[in-house]
Amino acid sequence: MLESNLEKKIDGIETEKQNEFEKYKQEVAESVGLVQKRIEEEQKNRRYIDLENYPVANLKKEIGEIVEGILGVQGKDLTLSVPPTHVISDFTLEVFNLAKKSGEKPNELAKKIVDNINERKTDLIKEASVAGAFVNIEVNKEKLYQETLSRILELGERYGESDINAGKTAIIDYSSPNIAKPIGIGHLRSTIIGQALANIYHETGYSVVRDNHLGDWGTQFGSLIYAYKEWGDEKKIKENPMRELKELYVKFSQLAKEHPEIKDNARELFSRLEKKDPELIALWKRFRDLSLEDFKHVYEELGIKFDTNIGESYFTEKADKLVDECLLNGFCKKDEDSEAVIVEKIGEIPSFLLRKQDGSSLYLARDLATIQFRAKIFNPETVLYVVGNEQDLNFKQLLELGKRAGYIPENMKAKHISFGMVLRDGKKMSTREGTLIELNDLISQSVDKSKEILRLKNPNIGVEELKKVSKIVGIGAIIYDDLRQSRTKNISFDWNRMLDLEGGSAVYLQYTYVRINSILKKIAENYGELNSAKLKKNDISFENKSEFDLAKKLMMFPEIVAKAQKTDSPHQICGYLEELSQLFNSFYNAVSIMKTADQKLRNSRVALIEGVALVVKKGLALLNVEVPEKM
Ligand code: ARG
Repeated sequence: MLESNLEKKIDGIETEKQNEFEKYKQEVAESVGLVQKRIEEEQKNRRYIDLENYPVANLKKEIGEIVEGILGVQGKDLTLSVPPTHVISDFTLEVFNLAKKSGEKPNELAKKIVDNINERKTDLIKEASVAGAFVNIEVNKEKLYQETLSRILELGERYGESDINAGKTAIIDYSSPNIAKPIGIGHLRSTIIGQALANIYHETGYSVVRDNHLGDWGTQFGSLIYAYKEWGDEKKIKENPMRELKELYVKFSQLAKEHPEIKDNARELFSRLEKKDPELIALWKRFRDLSLEDFKHVYEELGIKFDTNIGESYFTEKADKLVDECLLNGFCKKDEDSEAVIVEKIGEIPSFLLRKQDGSSLYLARDLATIQFRAKIFNPETVLYVVGNEQDLNFKQLLELGKRAGYIPENMKAKHISFGMVLRDGKKMSTREGTLIELNDLISQSVDKSKEILRLKNPNIGVEELKKVSKIVGIGAIIYDDLRQSRTKNISFDWNRMLDLEGGSAVYLQYTYVRINSILKKIAENYGELNSAKLKKNDISFENKSEFDLAKKLMMFPEIVAKAQKTDSPHQICGYLEELSQLFNSFYNAVSIMKTADQKLRNSRVALIEGVALVVKKGLALLNVEVPEKM
């Protein structure tokens, strides 16, 4: 009697605890459902902006039709570029690659194209001439200028958007830190690059799923649970959960160097966790919740929101089934001695483990289950893994096996967006060695440094204003400095570069934006507010070459966004914005809007710099960098 009661009681507790994992799965299912609904709605109701309606596309189309007439090549594939300012022509067309396709000599083909253009004279093109393997093109400047400005004013903040990838879904797997340690700079790059790509992909028409694939499973949780049971101090955990959990893990690693046998204990604990032992699951869930709470803070600072935080833990059982299936279908085999499951060498790719000897699941197998799930649930056109180059081989193995075994459908692209490490004193940072810089510290240092610079620039700045602006500048500096560098290289931190007011930094661009705002304000005070969106095309004009150069640059923006998406390189946008900013400065040195007596010309100039401000703000927003309204 007594016994069965007790059993019942324990049973009650157990089911309650077991529910922890079920509850978590329920949460995942709900978040997934919400995203599916959002995407469905988006693809039905989103009003896309047609890339073909941008002036840059019209110009390319006109040239394209001529080239097509000669070669039969699609006009869309042309590369039209803006030559350096000292070159007289408005645009240049590169003929080299076209000639390669047609087998003609580049300069002969260039001549043919030029002759055809000059015979036909189109709406936007005035004249062409040969320059080696290039075609120089002079356009109807007035018309192009009017078209560009009026398009920007009409679209406002949506200028740059396009429909190139309308109706497609992209899943971006980024940030993805490991729980129970503070999120470090190591995961910062993934977070920054992934968020920029999410924005850029969306801008070209994709529906985007932002997935934080948390590292919340694996043998290390056996170690952590062991350490917690041995040395865990609840008081310390309450005070600073992440620091304490990290310390426990470091302590375990250190002890394991002398006493490797404790690793067996950890493995045993992880096995029990995999079997969903209720006591261990409850502990694990607590570590997970504490970690998410801590990450949330950093994500808020960086202005980042995920659609799903699914995590590896969700895929352990599915992974197990997939490994069995792969065994059955001969994509892997059991090692006769150890019982571990291995995939044999595929071409250049060395053989790898898919299941451990003790039967516990592995990172790669969980990823295999993840991609199968993603394909089934979201039917994406593309999946991006924004993960450091340490995992290059892992992703080669994953993607190769995934394709072979049919978990990655043929019409689905899966790409590893690899990037270099963040080094400290030339060395990689590590939790175990205690050399990891905490992200919270990095952010507060950057904000403090920004404060100093802003105060120097403007000693009269108010306390509240300073607080607000230094946060925007400090965080922008970190994000921008990462994105402007080549993604695949290692990077280091250099405060001077990050906060350089003269160029190559976010704050330089933020200054351009703020400066334009204050110019606009002064002009409005003098001449009254201008509703530039109401300007008529025919009333838009320019006088100075620097104005036209600036408009030409503005015209290229939608193309740059498209290119950044196509090549997965946000730094395209950084380079563009810096050049735009320089062109603005040249323009502003050459022209005084305030002293422009002619009203129509003055209004056109106002519209022009409004366009610059808009594109700077928009370009930075795509990188997830904010602009202050004044500073
Ligand atoms: N948590 C992993 C790590 O920090 C990164 C996960 C990346 N995403 C993935 N699907 N494997 O190393």
